[in-house]
Amino acid sequence: MSKTLRLIHRWLAPVFIVVMIAVISTQGNAVGLILQRIQQVMVVIFALTGLYLFTYPLWVKSRRAKQRVNAARQARS
Ligand code: HEM
Repeated sequence: MSKTLRLIHRWLAPVFIVVMIAVISTQGNAVGLILQRIQQVMVVIFALTGLYLFTYPLWVKSRRAKQRVNAARQARS
């Protein structure tokens, strides 16, 4: 899951740049509006996958720390 989301985030990056250039060069016409909408959707995907990539390692770290504390407590009792 994490790997897939990282791949989506990674490969969307060059596509985003191309779309961004296309949006700039088609400003003011109908194609430009469609491209802008596509870009908006891409930004949402970036934000969601980016948030996951940011929070998942932190969540795993905190879960491991808790597990370590619990294991140490059990070993003592
Ligand atoms: C709200 C927007 C975004 C958020 C929250 C976000 C967040 C992140 C996070 C947390 C990572 C992982 C960094 C790590 O490995 O420690 C990442 C990686 C990356 N981001 Fe974003 N990002 C966003 C938008 C973008 C955009 C707009 C681009 C480029 C057009 C981009 C390109 C990349 C690339 C290429 C990586 C490296 C992926 C890999 O190869 O592992 N990101 N981002």
